[in-house]
Amino acid sequence: MDAILSARNIRKCYGSFVALKDISFDLPRGERHALIGPNGAGKSTFIACVAGQLPGVEGELLFKGHNITSLTPASLAKKGIGRTFQISRAFLGMTVMENIMAAVVISTGRWASLSRGLYRENLDKAFHLLETVALVERAADRVGDLSLGDRKRLEFGMALANDPDLLLLDEPTAGMSIKERHYLMEMVATRMEETNKTLLFVEHDIDVVMKIAQRVTVMARGAVLAAGTPGEIAANEEVQAIYLGGGH
Ligand SMILES: Nc1ncnc2c1ncn2[C@@H]1O[C@H](COP(=O)(O)OP(=O)(O)OP(=O)(O)O)[C@@H](O)[C@H]1O
Ligand SMILES: [Mg+2]
Repeated sequence: MDAILSARNIRKCYGSFVALKDISFDLPRGERHALIGPNGAGKSTFIACVAGQLPGVEGELLFKGHNITSLTPASLAKKGIGRTFQISRAFLGMTVMENIMAAVVISTGRWASLSRGLYRENLDKAFHLLETVALVERAADRVGDLSLGDRKRLEFGMALANDPDLLLLDEPTAGMSIKERHYLMEMVATRMEETNKTLLFVEHDIDVVMKIAQRVTVMARGAVLAAGTPGEIAANEEVQAIYLGGGH
């Protein structure tokens, strides 16, 4: 298997609390993979470990065969790991186009040498990203005036500015209506498939998981409980007992 990401015996403690016990996990290149499990299972902790956001991660993380354990988010972004760009409050007063342009400029790192030609190139890229996330018509609107669904699609578009090979999404559909959830995640899945990129996402909506994921890993109390196709996971009695019966 050509794994783009491999986790070997990942352990992460917060003080004396062991949040991740011994996570080993292989993610094949090009796969859309869902991470599910009850509250407190360690899903966000695992995503944050891969994204380089946490200190003191034990074990080994390999990305494209290279050890990335303890690299910073900035160097991981350069290597091709992306995650949603949470739009800060400071950016809410800016327009949709200004936000996407900011992401494009950051991804190219060439703001200082901005020339007319480069500006045009960045603008074309930004426009193309807005097309990808169906926000061209909102380009001139303030981000603060967007619906949650539109904002989440903008965040997705901003994450794509870097053209990441692996995209990490932690509960991208939280707070959205059922219709918006499916719209966003179908858009994400289509984009990943068309560009042959890999997706690792945390999702509580089991219908979205069943539709979007090709494989699913179930976590509970800091450990991997089961992994398989959505069908296998849905039929797994242990999963049903611990996860599906667990109040979600
Ligand atoms: N910064 C922290 N300090 C101490 N404990 C933490 C910290 N972050 C998370 N935890 C604990 O680690 C455990 C795993 O948390 P995590 O956020 O990874 O779970 P999760 O699976 O993402 O849950 P949810 O579905 O609620 O988002 C929980 O018991 C949580 O309380
Ligand atoms: Mg979480």
